[in-house]
Amino acid sequence: MPLKHDLPLLKSPMPFGHYQKLINRAYYRMKSGEDLFGAGGGGRKGDFVTMASHDSRIGHALAEEAHKSLRRAAKVPRRIRICELGVGNGNLAATFLDRFKELDNTHNTEFYKRLDYVLGDYSEAILKDVRKSPQIEAHSNAGVTTFVNLSADAMPFRNGSLFRMISHELWDDLGTEILVKRGDKVKKVHMMPILRTGTKIRDKNGVEVVPEEFKKDFRANDPKKLERYAPSVLKGLKMSPTESDVAWENIPYSNIVKKQLKGVKEGVFMMVNTGMIRNLEAAKRALMPRRGIYHAFDYGYWSEDEVMNGISRGGGRETKVSPYKGFGGQVTSAVNLPLGKRIAEHLGFKRVAIGAESEFVSKHLGEGVISIGHLVRFHPELLEEKTGTFEYLIKDMMMGIDTSGAFEGMKRKGKPKIIHPSFYVTRNEVDRVMGTLYGKGFKKESIDSAFKVPDRRYVHMELRA
Ligand SMILES: C[S@@+](CC[C@H](N)C(=O)[O-])C[C@H]1O[C@@H](n2cnc3c(N)ncnc32)[C@H](O)[C@@H]1O
Repeated sequence: MPLKHDLPLLKSPMPFGHYQKLINRAYYRMKSGEDLFGAGGGGRKGDFVTMASHDSRIGHALAEEAHKSLRRAAKVPRRIRICELGVGNGNLAATFLDRFKELDNTHNTEFYKRLDYVLGDYSEAILKDVRKSPQIEAHSNAGVTTFVNLSADAMPFRNGSLFRMISHELWDDLGTEILVKRGDKVKKVHMMPILRTGTKIRDKNGVEVVPEEFKKDFRANDPKKLERYAPSVLKGLKMSPTESDVAWENIPYSNIVKKQLKGVKEGVFMMVNTGMIRNLEAAKRALMPRRGIYHAFDYGYWSEDEVMNGISRGGGRETKVSPYKGFGGQVTSAVNLPLGKRIAEHLGFKRVAIGAESEFVSKHLGEGVISIGHLVRFHPELLEEKTGTFEYLIKDMMMGIDTSGAFEGMKRKGKPKIIHPSFYVTRNEVDRVMGTLYGKGFKKESIDSAFKVPDRRYVHMELRA
């Protein structure tokens, strides 16, 4: 029975970070064999599409970087341990391993068999699916993979044992506190979770549950208690923000945070990605001193100036950043990368560099890449002309073009089933279908500009231990 009114779930609001952690934990638990997106029993098929989950180029670029570094090394570790954190559908791991193996053939080396590629995730459900994935199976049979249920802030590795660490769109999922200056006060954002009017509360068997029972389970603050519900209940939640005075003793590295906050404009939300901070501490311990590198890819604020003003200049245009979002039940927050850099340097990382994800891929594949979304954003006139969403426009334009099979990066085998703005295209690939692109209103000058301006909406942070 639909509810008459929106239902507040708590007596008083909870800090944003607690809310985010609870919901995301529940989200990744619930997804075992479930269909959160209503695609009809598709499980996680309709889940997040990222550059890592459906494109092969990011995995290939990471393999190139690691292999090259080993070829140049005076001494190669007996066991080359690489840990990927937050593995999603396993595509990044598979594409990395495929390319790494090929590189051994090309360079007549024997690094592949010394690999221990650790797939680390806190979701048993995700690990279970990836373990079964045909893309990964051959590598597992070759004995180069290990699956580990772990949390990003407490990794079970011997100190100094990892050659590489990799994460892609992990930090934005982790707990985050949000601070904001109001006059001479600093406030912290809290959330009141509210169940939208009309949300049907059902358990996984479709049996209706009374609101009081759901409320009780929600208040237990335990993701396991939420597991019994049909995932749609998470989609029915909305967040109502309030603010209260910050308790500095609960903010990690508060001196560094305060320093950055000084420059932030009044009223702008400053993200303190506490999960990222704990993950950086764990990474510093686990990586091999000096030669260990952490490649973290994410989205959010790339420069101090963006943090100060709450904007993004990614993609060549200034846009307002949404500090947090709900994706079909998941809660994500923009990452304050400059704060990550300040803290990583304090932790003793030797080199911390922030660049565009596309620049990293271009550099290691030796050919310029940009995302389809970036290419389209450089044609604002088309966006204005066409009705419908940005994604629709992209689909419409790319569908016809793709029949040429030009876009290698989008497909692992056969035709891509999903066309998404995050997929990469190279200059060569675009040139091959230029005729079709012109026919659809694309312009050469705009394409040239798109390839010159790095797509800074997606960021790569490289940390050398
Ligand atoms: C948004 S998905 C990204 C997946 C994949 N890396 C990609 O880019 O397509 C986040 C992944 O991180 C995992 N994850 C989230 N929080 C985690 C935590 N605290 N510790 C370990 N894994 C976590 C999730 O289970 C999920 O696999």
